[in-house]
Amino acid sequence: MFRTTTNGELTLSNLNEEVTLSGWVQTIRDKGFMIWIDLRDRYGITQLVFDEDRSSKELFEQAKKLGREFVIQVKGTVIERASKNPKIPTGEVEILVKELTVLNESLLPPFTIEDQTDGGEELRMKYRYLDIRRNPVKEKLIFRHKMAQKVRNYLSEKDFIEVETPVLIKSTPEGARDFVVPSRMNPGQFYALPQSPQTFKQLLMVAGMDRYFQIVKCFRDEDLRADRQPEFTQIDCEMSFVEQEDVLEIFEGLAKHLLKDITGKNFDQFPRMTYDDAMKTYGNDKPDIRFGMQFVELNELVKGKDFKIFDDADLVVGINVEGCADYTRKQIDGLIDWVKRPQVGASGMVWVKYQNDGILTSSVNKFYNEEDLQKIAEKFNAKPGDLMLVMSGETNKVRTQLSALRMELGNQLGLRKGDEFAPLWVIDFPLLEWDEETGRYHAMHHPFTSPKPEDIELLSTDPGKARANAYDMVLNGNEIGGGSVRIYNKELQSTMFDLLGFSKEEAEAQFGFLMNAFKYGAPPHAGLAFGFDRFVAILDGNEVIRDYIAFPKNNSGRDVMIDAPSPIHQDQLDELELKLNLK
Ligand code: AMO
Repeated sequence: MFRTTTNGELTLSNLNEEVTLSGWVQTIRDKGFMIWIDLRDRYGITQLVFDEDRSSKELFEQAKKLGREFVIQVKGTVIERASKNPKIPTGEVEILVKELTVLNESLLPPFTIEDQTDGGEELRMKYRYLDIRRNPVKEKLIFRHKMAQKVRNYLSEKDFIEVETPVLIKSTPEGARDFVVPSRMNPGQFYALPQSPQTFKQLLMVAGMDRYFQIVKCFRDEDLRADRQPEFTQIDCEMSFVEQEDVLEIFEGLAKHLLKDITGKNFDQFPRMTYDDAMKTYGNDKPDIRFGMQFVELNELVKGKDFKIFDDADLVVGINVEGCADYTRKQIDGLIDWVKRPQVGASGMVWVKYQNDGILTSSVNKFYNEEDLQKIAEKFNAKPGDLMLVMSGETNKVRTQLSALRMELGNQLGLRKGDEFAPLWVIDFPLLEWDEETGRYHAMHHPFTSPKPEDIELLSTDPGKARANAYDMVLNGNEIGGGSVRIYNKELQSTMFDLLGFSKEEAEAQFGFLMNAFKYGAPPHAGLAFGFDRFVAILDGNEVIRDYIAFPKNNSGRDVMIDAPSPIHQDQLDELELKLNLK
């Protein structure tokens, strides 16, 4: 037997018990006549003691040879510690070791296996198995596991059935690039890895499964960011005989269930915001509503005063940064520089200060007198002490730029607190999105999303105006889930493919299987998928999803530990009848 208990369990109630423990040597404190060792496993730390007086000479010598991260087994007696550590559950006891077995030696780890480590990101990724030994990483994986359990239980109780769908499939149209896998048995042909199980879950509805879910890996070959990985996990769901309202209710219920578990609080009904309102008020379809600074549009107040920049702009819009009128020139210039960075791309920014003494002043005093500024301040609902920041330009661009500034200020002012949760639904997304590059429409969500029934007519007159029965769940400024009511009518689906520029043949070749299935009695259906990694990270007060993935990819899409992707052997290429043509 390797152990009688784990390293996280022993307390004063176990005094004088004879125990066997196994684990890794975390730290060694060698005082010459006494050696203390912290023995670690997943469950915690137990202090071991070797004592020149009480231990045999051989045992003491053996202990002296131990190194960090050696795997050992000890037998000994639970005794009371002289100096106790109230910070850990086992902090009142230690083990007077009587027998020591080295189960495996270890090289000196390339970074310290402690909560605060000296290892940089890349090094820790290369030795991820060592990184996972550290509490902060281990705890995140345990947190993820607990959330997955809760999701499974919740959905199972609501009659959802978990069904696995294939990984070697045909391209799914989620808008990113596919990862492809060549087929040896079908030379020249490729599988695609699923960007999501979208078409399969719809087929499961045709198959009568009624309520499906799957915690499932999805693959998207897209540029990486803190909230994106090429390989990520969805909680993918689909339901039959439902309307949008039913879907929102069920998945809001799931989110509330998890939020309750974490915060202990019952959440009220999530606010709902239309896409148009979200863009107008926050410049963003995933607004962080933990803090204010809603957009205030100023066109009618600021135009016609000879300030050319505002006169020429489609939209003049600003935010009120409460209590920041005392920002120095340098601080404001810092913000102006920030919005001028290429990543944001603004050409400048105007400020209006409502000083504490009630006087209004601005960077455009030349064009706007006290009375003008008063009207502007009123529009912002500003009070003495506030700072108003105003940007202008082409509507969509300026909204995006101001949204970036709003988020930056939210961060700078500490308004984006990890332990505060502000969920909402964003609804009524546009059905289509015009793509300048290709000169045609793209599906904003995916081609199976149903237009709002009242907007179906627009498909033949002004398709860009049609709204979809599509919805996103947003939490703290992140899109954590999205879905839609699906088209289940063959004719409407084929109109959609037309609009998206698919020829009949292309639509048949790519989605014939789905269109065919729809001929055999497809029920009305709708669904949603949560980004599980994102959801878990945010619930844990974080935004970097990599930390919640056991073996993530770096920013160039590489796994630096196993060194993938990597070239394959010529034999493999030959077998696949593939010839490389690298530039
Ligand atoms: P969508 O493409 O919106 O919808 O994806 C659903 C959710 O998955 C998460 N997500 C990601 N997470 C990490 N890394 C990525 N690269 C990544 N891409 C997406 C997001 C997103 O909200 N089939 C539809 C769902 C449906 O209609 O039912 C779909 O995949 O949190």
